[in-house]
Order: sequence, then C-alpha cells, then structure tokens
Amino acid sequence: MTAVIAGNWKMNGLRADGAALAKALAAKMPGASSAPCRMVLCPPATLIADVIAAVDGSGISVGGQDCHSEEKGAYTGNIAAVMLRDLGCGHVIVGHSERRRDFGETDAEVADKAAAAQAAGLVPIICVGETLEERDAGEAVAVVERQIGGAVPPAGGEVIVAYEPVWAIGTGRTPTMEDVAEIHAAARRTLSGLRGDGDQVPILYGGSAKAANAADLLAVPDVGGLLVGGASLDAEEFWAIANAAAA
Ligand code: PGA
Repeated sequence: MTAVIAGNWKMNGLRADGAALAKALAAKMPGASSAPCRMVLCPPATLIADVIAAVDGSGISVGGQDCHSEEKGAYTGNIAAVMLRDLGCGHVIVGHSERRRDFGETDAEVADKAAAAQAAGLVPIICVGETLEERDAGEAVAVVERQIGGAVPPAGGEVIVAYEPVWAIGTGRTPTMEDVAEIHAAARRTLSGLRGDGDQVPILYGGSAKAANAADLLAVPDVGGLLVGGASLDAEEFWAIANAAAA
C-alpha cells in the first residue's frame, strides 16, 4: 500500500507562504502514478483555496484541519465538511489532540465529524493518542482502543486513522519503535473488529515525525504513513519525508 504522508500546517502561514510551500511541493511531485506517496496538505482554512490552486494537477490532495458535524446552520466560526469538499478538498483531519484539549472534543463528537466528512465525500483523518499521564499509567493501548472504538465510523467510506501520542506532538520526543509497533498492532486489531475493511485502513504515526526518523517509523509494521506537523512547513524537509515513504 502506498504510504500516506500528510502535512498538518496548524495555524501557520499567510497567503504568500502557503502558496510558495504548496508550489514547491507540487513542482517536486512527479505525478500521481509515480509519486513516492499519497501526499495530503492540510493548511489553515484561509489558505485552502490558494493551496488547491497551487497543487493543481500534481496529485497532491488538500485537506481541512477540522470540520463541523452539521451541514449548515448557526455555528459561528465553524466550517462544514461540504464546504471543504466544495473548495476541492479530499481529506479532513478530525479529533486532533489540540482540538480535544482546547475545545473539549469527545470521541462521540469526533465520530459525528468523521461521518459528516464521509457523507460530504471527504476522507477523514481521525486522530487518536494517549497523554503522558495515560502512558505512565500503562493505559496507552486501552486509550487508543477506546478512542478508535468511539471515534471511527464502523461503516461509510474510506477512513484514515492517525496515532499521535499527545506527549510526542511538537516536543521532539518520539516513542520507541517497539512502542509504536505495540500501539499500531492494537489499533489494527481494533479496526479489524470494527470495520469490514479494517485490515486496509491506513494507520499513520504522528508526533515529532521528521526526515531523520521517517524511514524508521515507516518500517514499523502497520505504520501506513505519517502525519507531520512542524516538519511539514519546510518543503525540503517534507519532501525528504515523502521520499522516505518511497524507499
Ligand atoms: P508535530 O505535530 O509533527 O509538530 O509533532 C504533529 C501533529 O500534531 O499532527
């Protein structure tokens, strides 16, 4: 299976920065058939239209960083999945730990967002992962199993899951490859019990992924790609990660 390499730009970039980064990556992509990976760029909402224009014809997919579970209505400040689809997005991140932390998103809400994404024709990238306290308490596997069970739609279209240990995000710390393997195996078992296509769902790793550790992470069984934050803001670095997926 071709690895998914997704860049989560978070709240970074003005229009010129976003277009330049997207253009630089699009220029490197050899076209979908010989691309090193399935590349997904998730810029802030303000940059989505520019980024979609910049990557046109390159095979790069563009995604949102969140969506609302309703199609429309009185939800000030929110963006519906159908609106992202209308712009030309193919993906949307849901349940990122920063949204769970800052907006108190629950697994049930994440499940509704994922279902809305599917209904709109987007592939949801559903984030799960334990906090440091949960890991120290020996609960990492149980937390991830519970989050997948609660947040991943049991039916509907394609989904992607991203395992992102909260304590590894933006910290430069990564779990050992054994720890990544343990969680990804548990995630695979849970997905296989949940969905008919559970053995095919890409399970990405995220949390301080970068060019220097991408190949090691991608070699772990059941790691089907990477969700990259900080290191996705530099075209050369992100391209090196994309190429680690081809190796
Ligand atoms: P990071 O972020 O790569 O900067 O750790 C990953 C993420 O939050 O998706």
